[in-house]
Amino acid sequence: MRRGQIVSLVGIGVLAGGIATAVAVLLPWLPRPAAREASRIDFTIWFVIVICIVIFAIVAAAILYSVVRFRARPDDHEDGPPIHGHTGLEITWTLIPMLLVTAIAIVSAIVLARDGAQGKNVLRVNVTAQQFAWSFSYPDAKGLTTGSLMLPKGRSVLLRFTSKDVIHSFWVPEFGQKQDTVPGMHPTLHITPDRLGTFPVICTELCGLGHALMRAQAVVITPAAFAKWLKSQSAAISSPNAAVSGAAVFKNNACGACHTLAAAGASGKVGPDLDKLAAYAKQARQPLESFIRESIVSPNAYIQPGYPKNVMPQTFGKSLSKPQLDSLVKYLAVSGTKG
Ligand code: CUA
Repeated sequence: MRRGQIVSLVGIGVLAGGIATAVAVLLPWLPRPAAREASRIDFTIWFVIVICIVIFAIVAAAILYSVVRFRARPDDHEDGPPIHGHTGLEITWTLIPMLLVTAIAIVSAIVLARDGAQGKNVLRVNVTAQQFAWSFSYPDAKGLTTGSLMLPKGRSVLLRFTSKDVIHSFWVPEFGQKQDTVPGMHPTLHITPDRLGTFPVICTELCGLGHALMRAQAVVITPAAFAKWLKSQSAAISSPNAAVSGAAVFKNNACGACHTLAAAGASGKVGPDLDKLAAYAKQARQPLESFIRESIVSPNAYIQPGYPKNVMPQTFGKSLSKPQLDSLVKYLAVSGTKG
């Protein structure tokens, strides 16, 4: 091989590799990780991408060079020269991919093992999926259920999943992992949040009419703020005389994800606008409070025209305690008729 040929081969390879690198680096393919596990998974992805770019550059250089240099001339009707095997070349192109794939397997196995390894003082959170809402409860604070996943930064968290109806799938892009929730099974997922912020919880399994709306939030706060939050929530639950706040019930059950209610600062557009409850009750020809109660407990009994059926979870009658339900009805009756 002459020097000029090597120079053009290398030149094409560098150019192809450069273009592929630009596409890989400049486009925002991945969310910024907010969990240690996600960072390790991203490392694995980049490890594979670098290998892919190098192979792509070599193959592109060989193909482009051959296409140009060995193309058939217009007057050339010959078959090419007969080629027999080249043992050295064959061993090389078997050995190199074998080494690369083995390296990827080793890196993946290490990442899998480390991602699954729970740290000390694991925080357990039970995640419940149902059509079409997420709820989160904390065994550390008996009776505490929330509509947002609150997590302390830097602590090992074990999520345990339960589905009340069909298969859903839990996904926080910034945490880097998905977990299907299968009825009758209780899979777990280990995460260690390492960045403060609010991240979307998304259902990624087509689970029915309201699938696209089945979203919640994961909020990562400092360990001190988390301890304070857990304490205040536990106190509110365990105090027998504490009036259950309807506003808190509204917030903890993520009602605002689907409904608008000015008093709660909620602007959801999926379900009926709760600032218009008085008008709706009139349309349904029912007294306001019993109309609100019925709409929470058996949402399909009356569907406000223009809104979908079977989207509102039908389990609130069971999941809310009587005081919670009473205070929510009162709260909506008062604040939902000001608009
Ligand atoms: Cu639950 Cu999609």
